[in-house]
Amino acid sequence: MENSREPLQPHCLVLSYPSQGHINPMLQFSKRLLHKGVKVTLVTTRSMSKTLHGSSSCTSVALEAISDGFDDGGIGAAGSPEAYIERFWKVGPDTLGELIKRLISSGPPPTCIVYDSFLPWALDVARNFDLVGAAFFTMSCAVNSVFYHCQKGWLEVPVKKQVLLPGVPPLEPQDMPSLVCDVGTYPAFTGMLVNQFSNLDKVDWVLCNTVYELDPEVADWFMKILPFRTVGPTIPSTYLDNRLEQDNEYGFSIFQPEHDTTMRWLSTKPKGSVVYVSFGSMAELKIDQMHELAMGLKRSNCYFLWVVRSSEAEKLPQGFANGTETSQKGLIVTWCPQLEVLAHDALGLFVTHSGWNSTLEAVSLGVPMLAIPQWTDQATNAKYIMDVWKMGLRPLVDEERGVVTSEEIENCIRKVMERETRKKIRENAGKWRKITKEAVGEGGSSDRNIEEFVAKLVAKP
Ligand code: UDX
Repeated sequence: MENSREPLQPHCLVLSYPSQGHINPMLQFSKRLLHKGVKVTLVTTRSMSKTLHGSSSCTSVALEAISDGFDDGGIGAAGSPEAYIERFWKVGPDTLGELIKRLISSGPPPTCIVYDSFLPWALDVARNFDLVGAAFFTMSCAVNSVFYHCQKGWLEVPVKKQVLLPGVPPLEPQDMPSLVCDVGTYPAFTGMLVNQFSNLDKVDWVLCNTVYELDPEVADWFMKILPFRTVGPTIPSTYLDNRLEQDNEYGFSIFQPEHDTTMRWLSTKPKGSVVYVSFGSMAELKIDQMHELAMGLKRSNCYFLWVVRSSEAEKLPQGFANGTETSQKGLIVTWCPQLEVLAHDALGLFVTHSGWNSTLEAVSLGVPMLAIPQWTDQATNAKYIMDVWKMGLRPLVDEERGVVTSEEIENCIRKVMERETRKKIRENAGKWRKITKEAVGEGGSSDRNIEEFVAKLVAKP
């Protein structure tokens, strides 16, 4: 006999803000939920959905797109971040509502929205349809704490002196997210980061892409005031388990990775010998900084693999050309399969802007870092890399010129690649790698939190 009280299979809509640093972790989190028996539909914007690559299989996450008001070009077509956010906030809720109605009629109906914390209006949509609402935070606990304090009016901005927050090491202005120091530079983004916390009194879950053990005191502090759970790192287990086969299911990439060129080049290099350099999908380096970096790499005399996006290529100094081996020592590509690169034996060091995904990926794969933060949350991540996890260095900025000089870069590379510092940094990197792997392994801190989240979804009448 049919049991009419049998619970519905949980069906999560996972809604991502359309940028590389957000869609990557939310897609991987979707796959985790799927493996726990949840039906998942990943929702992004129409323009972002055009960057989809790879192949899906019947076991994959389903995909849907909503409108941000700029279906042919996204934020780039909006003219300004302000115009983009204003339009998306108007158009997004209605098109998300229409999607939910369609999915309710075709079934299985959605039971929960896991929404990017950048899009807090999605919680109202969840409430309108009586769905569970879970905010998904793509930045670190410490950075979230900074913006939480801003939202509450507990932190005076612009920040000009040392800041003390519960569980966070003392942060000097240069360790703070740039958006709370240079508040006039990107007001729309600052507003978006602060507003992540505007309606959390109504939320069912706050999920954060981090590992409890990386920042336990701040995570504990958040757990006392919010239904906060750590669920990271959202990195495919193939990489954490050191199995180097590619994740062949689909992914989103705004840029085309030069996969074969990169991996072929890496495979010819000795273990631990390569310095990998990347500043993520958004940062734009000053020409002066680009030249100092190039000279620093050259002076270090190490092998280097450098990602320079096409839009940045014209800043390269003479002799450093995109797509070619610049000398016997270096390869420059426009984009690479970063996880595969970080997991490769040949890697010795990651020179990074310390975006949260890159940081978490390097921590999870045990790669020491040189952190050269550019903007937003990156300076705070750099502080943790050097002073809390002690698995890297943060080269000093030459105050007069506002750049990290080639001498400083060379010196830091040598410290991590050659000298005594190397041993300690590498030991710490290995320790954090083990801890993060255990967190997502069966019974680990993140795994337990995801299990709890799924169990409650199943139990919801
Ligand atoms: C942005 C912000 O800049 C960052 O500070 C914030 O924490 C998240 O949003 P982004 O600058 O792109 O992100 O940096 P990051 O968070 O490091 O994300 C970049 C992603 O692109 C990573 O997942 C990385 O693996 C991937 N990547 C990068 C590649 O796949 N190939 C590359 O060549 C470079």
